[in-house]
Amino acid sequence: MQETGNRLQQLPEPLVEWYRKNRRELPWRESPDAYRVWVSEIMLQQTRVEAVKPYYARFLKELPTVRDLAEADEEKLLKLWEGLGYYNRVRNMQKAANQIMIDYHGVFPCEYEEIRKLKGIGNYTAGAISSFAFGIAKPAVDGNVLRVISRIRGSYEDIMKQSVRKKIEEQIEEVIPEDAASDFNQGLIELGAIVCVPNGEPKCVECPVKHLCAAYEKGIQAELPVKKKPNARRIEHRTVLVFRDDGATAIRKRPAKGLLARMYELPNVEGTLNADEVIAYSKEIGLTPIRVKPLGEAKHIFSHVEWHMTGYFVQVDELERSCKPKMIFARPDEIKKRYPIPAAFEKYIGYAM
Ligand code: ADE
Repeated sequence: MQETGNRLQQLPEPLVEWYRKNRRELPWRESPDAYRVWVSEIMLQQTRVEAVKPYYARFLKELPTVRDLAEADEEKLLKLWEGLGYYNRVRNMQKAANQIMIDYHGVFPCEYEEIRKLKGIGNYTAGAISSFAFGIAKPAVDGNVLRVISRIRGSYEDIMKQSVRKKIEEQIEEVIPEDAASDFNQGLIELGAIVCVPNGEPKCVECPVKHLCAAYEKGIQAELPVKKKPNARRIEHRTVLVFRDDGATAIRKRPAKGLLARMYELPNVEGTLNADEVIAYSKEIGLTPIRVKPLGEAKHIFSHVEWHMTGYFVQVDELERSCKPKMIFARPDEIKKRYPIPAAFEKYIGYAM
């Protein structure tokens, strides 16, 4: 049986050859300059390739350069990101864009260490930008790569551990070919995405490196990688209210700090209210409810918390728009164009349109 080091040393040639023949045509692979790679990789961190495509096209059309991103108004930025979730990612991108404007006169830095220092850019994204855009031989280890390498090594180490990720980064760095860093890194990611897949059986018959794979040799592909579950999320019960008069719906801005900071939301309160409690609450904040209709339940999962929501549509008297806390009564076209509303409210926001 081959040792781990040997297996990885033999990886580049068949992997790069396979990638060049089999890679999918994806918009961010067309002209991989640093800005475009950056935008795509940040979007791809939590979202599937197919779902990212329209967001990516729209973002680059609206903000084609680092300067455009640095100067964008925050609401426009959040609107472009609406639905992708994890909004701090795009806020950090704007901070990094400002860093690039100030420290590098708007030109994306081309050294790994400089890229790694930018706000919101960790080892993976720095490695991806350095290798895809500049051909620098640094590793780009994401979940796909952790899975592929764990299987090749036949390793039962927990890939959620930082120490395991670090070891894999070091092992990859030793074998990345200087003359094909981009295709090697993208090859690993692509292999993980379409052959050595995360859900369901890996397609080992199609794999260009099955002859190097310890998991394939031992028939233990399905057991790997080992990924210990993180701590359970906190569950919050909330009641979401669509206060609607003839033409407009009440929305409000979230606080400047914390979950979904500075985004807009449908008013919501802690707990699961029944219709009578909704009427009482509406009056308490100064609105006059005319009709209340339940809208059913919805769930939204954030990284550390789950919202279990119950919704109500509350028709209110048009004359009673002054309530405490203060709300914005927004028309459907304003909600669509101007106010970034997080995907957590997806089930209910349709009733505001
Ligand atoms: N997942 C993460 N990065 C990717 C990329 N550049 N191409 C395809 N899938 C990816």
